[in-house]
Amino acid sequence: MEKQNKIEWLFSSRNKEELAERYAQWAKDYDVELERDFEWRGPQRTAELFIRYVPKEARILDAGAGTGLMGEVLLKLGYDNLVAMDLSEAMLEEAQKKNVYREFRQMVMGEPLAFATDSFDAVVSAGVLTVGHAPASSFDELVRTTRPGGHILFTLRTDVYEDRGFKEKQTTLEAEGKWKLVKVSEKTPLLLKEPDVFHQIWVYQVT
Ligand SMILES: C[S@@+](CC[C@H](N)C(=O)[O-])C[C@H]1O[C@@H](n2cnc3c(N)ncnc32)[C@H](O)[C@@H]1O
Repeated sequence: MEKQNKIEWLFSSRNKEELAERYAQWAKDYDVELERDFEWRGPQRTAELFIRYVPKEARILDAGAGTGLMGEVLLKLGYDNLVAMDLSEAMLEEAQKKNVYREFRQMVMGEPLAFATDSFDAVVSAGVLTVGHAPASSFDELVRTTRPGGHILFTLRTDVYEDRGFKEKQTTLEAEGKWKLVKVSEKTPLLLKEPDVFHQIWVYQVT
């Protein structure tokens, strides 16, 4: 499949079952094709911020872990208490091969998560909060499962932030005193082969 079509193909999924089916088709080739066609740098750039805020012994949820690219980067930096969560069993099966995570949980962001309140010291989510994937309402459960004082870091396309309810949700959570904004990165391409698509990396602290 031609590369731009792959992104459109994922974005155009009509429901979570179709999205899971599409990721199941892509899972085995995901790492190679993503690098070849897009040069995705979300995990690396997010990790550069992550190390400023999260101690090495932290229990970390990788929300939408996929094949584990984020976990691989974090393990190299000394984080080894990692839980992988994703809606796609096939993507999680690929992640298991990497020996990076302690647990693998199939769950859907945007629905209630089967984790206790305050389960994690930090949550990280790269390339997941986007069109046809995890909605802005996902933040409610990510905040609930992160302990007070813990951090939530995620990548977000700038167009998605403006147009898909993220700006409103993020602002509302801050106004309600649920989290506070610690840092937002410059607008930058994280898909190096898509220089016109800009992302930001957001860092919040749960209050
Ligand atoms: C583009 S991949 C990113 C994977 C990984 N974080 C990375 O940086 O390579 C998006 C992942 O999010 C998962 N995903 C999409 N919507 C989701 C949702 N609502 N809940 C949980 N996972 C979701 C997909 O199954 C897929 O594995």
